[in-house]
Amino acid sequence: MNRFARITGTGSAAPDNILTNRDLEKMVDTSDEWIIARTGIKERRIAPPGAASSDYALAASLKALEMAGITAKDLDLILLGTVTPDSPLPSTACILQHKLGATNAGVVDLVAACSGFIYGIAFARSMIITGQMDNILVIGVETLSRIVNWKDRDTCVLFGDGAGAAVVSVSDKPGGIMDTFLKADGSLSHLLEVPAGGGRKPLGPDNINNGDRYIRMEGQGVFKAAVKAMGDAATKIIARTGITSDDIDLMIPHQANIRIIEATAKRIKLPMDRVFVNIQKYGNTSAASVPIALDEAVREGRINPGDNIVLVAFGAGFTWGSALIEW
Ligand code: ACO
Repeated sequence: MNRFARITGTGSAAPDNILTNRDLEKMVDTSDEWIIARTGIKERRIAPPGAASSDYALAASLKALEMAGITAKDLDLILLGTVTPDSPLPSTACILQHKLGATNAGVVDLVAACSGFIYGIAFARSMIITGQMDNILVIGVETLSRIVNWKDRDTCVLFGDGAGAAVVSVSDKPGGIMDTFLKADGSLSHLLEVPAGGGRKPLGPDNINNGDRYIRMEGQGVFKAAVKAMGDAATKIIARTGITSDDIDLMIPHQANIRIIEATAKRIKLPMDRVFVNIQKYGNTSAASVPIALDEAVREGRINPGDNIVLVAFGAGFTWGSALIEW
């Protein structure tokens, strides 16, 4: 049998609590107009105290499994992209495995920031088409509100919490995840980082209150790198698979900034009516952004059998990547 890797189910979940731009006006020196004009974001979801990434990963995963028509016991592997695990140890994938009752699955967390879901899709495809596994759950989940400095207007307006999941299963029907492209450049890591909390600068009295445990970003440097990398990832997947922009039915980009999304579409000459955008509702949810958008596109009927779907993402590291899916 020829083996193809198809996405058979998607799901997403987010906290109920909505933080609007108007709410942020009361917290830092910013305005609804500035945030919308510079980013496209209107509101984001924020996890309540006590909640953690595995809670939203569980809710998204159950929806994806239901759509796929399989149970957690059918899973061979769980790949979970996050930079905001429940705790440093064990992996959030392991916590999710127990909550799901995925007793036959191996598990691992992927730390590729906003590209985490696309890295997961790439690894899942490889495991499936090489015959090693049949059913893999790929998740992107974040509770970025925990590592955002709510006094820093440069960053706190950008990020939000949520989760998206996809079941990737073996199929003998040609199509599915056709190809993936992954890349990274660690020389730019200083542009977007959480300086403390690891081996180099363990959390302690000297850095607990100086902001080092929160996201630090040089916005303009990240913006320039993101436009370049997203364009690179989109053009590479087109070139590798031999399609043209006319063949793309829908592009689902990482939702970091509407201007980055528009620049990426322009680079591959794709009209915006063939680009999925939900940044206004969630802000940047890092690894969760692409799978939340994918799930909403599926459930809104924006994706039909046979459609060519391009996923493209860019994140801290820097990492970037893309995938072509024949649905
Ligand atoms: N509200 C009001 N004013 C603000 C705010 C804010 N929240 N933040 C910054 N400003 C001010 C600045 O202080 C500056 O003021 P000044 O001119 O008096 O110095 C002015 O607005 C312009 O600031 P810039 O940084 O030049 O604004 P820019 O147009 O570059 O937009 C932004 C900033 C939105 C952060 C942009 O650079 C960006 O989107 N960068 C990429 C961010 C990103 O995508 N990060 C994540 C990618 S990877 C991942 O997803 C993990």
